[in-house]
Amino acid sequence: MTLDVRLRIRRFNPEVDERPHDEEYIVAAEEHDSVLDLLNRVKWYQDGTLAYRRSCGHGVCGSDAMQINGANRLACKILVGELGERITVAPLLGLRVLKDLIVDLEPFFAHYRTVMPFLVNDEPVPAGERLQSPEARERYDDTTKCILCAACTTACPSFWADGGYYGPAAIVLGHRFLFDSRDRAGGDRLRILGEQMGVWRCRTAFSCTLACPRGIEVTRAIGEVKQAVVRGRVD
Ligand code: SF4
Ligand code: FES
Repeated sequence: MTLDVRLRIRRFNPEVDERPHDEEYIVAAEEHDSVLDLLNRVKWYQDGTLAYRRSCGHGVCGSDAMQINGANRLACKILVGELGERITVAPLLGLRVLKDLIVDLEPFFAHYRTVMPFLVNDEPVPAGERLQSPEARERYDDTTKCILCAACTTACPSFWADGGYYGPAAIVLGHRFLFDSRDRAGGDRLRILGEQMGVWRCRTAFSCTLACPRGIEVTRAIGEVKQAVVRGRVD
């Protein structure tokens, strides 16, 4: 069944606008169309000036996170049938808007780089692989699913209050390497994650967990990092 969706989009062009404003478009859509499909139709057939990020279209690249009907979502993963005939989209909160739905992600990626998001191991390279038991791999399986979409961090009230907080996404990536049995930088990671802008800024609001399009138990991962920081070791 074809619907005429009223799509309200928060627009902002820093070259001409003093402040953001909403514009409404009527877009013909099927229930199985995604919000990204609607944005594409607006851009391709109604208003080529609309700016937003997207790439894979299938929930993999993490580039099209935005507020959709008030909640952080990936535009390519949420369907018209889940939302109805009135849909509002706006940029993620807590980051500077560059244009329309595009925010400046550099502060987000700066926090990501702070937690050393890479394996550290300077022991002699074995002839084969650095082996790991299935149980050891399971320890951090959930946090390997992160696609760095920023939906969690920009849903977090603590991040809104202070953008210096590393935020849930950075801690998720910290967790992913902290609990990897092959990693040898646990001491450095615990020091970084225990810093003033680290895990203790989390107030356990669970907004991050609700926002994550990958279903990662973000608040739980942050809690595990907090426990490791208190113990001063990973075990
Ligand atoms: Fe996105 Fe989830 Fe990763 Fe946060 S934890 S950046 S919401 S995939
Ligand atoms: Fe890649 Fe949506 S376009 S996750």
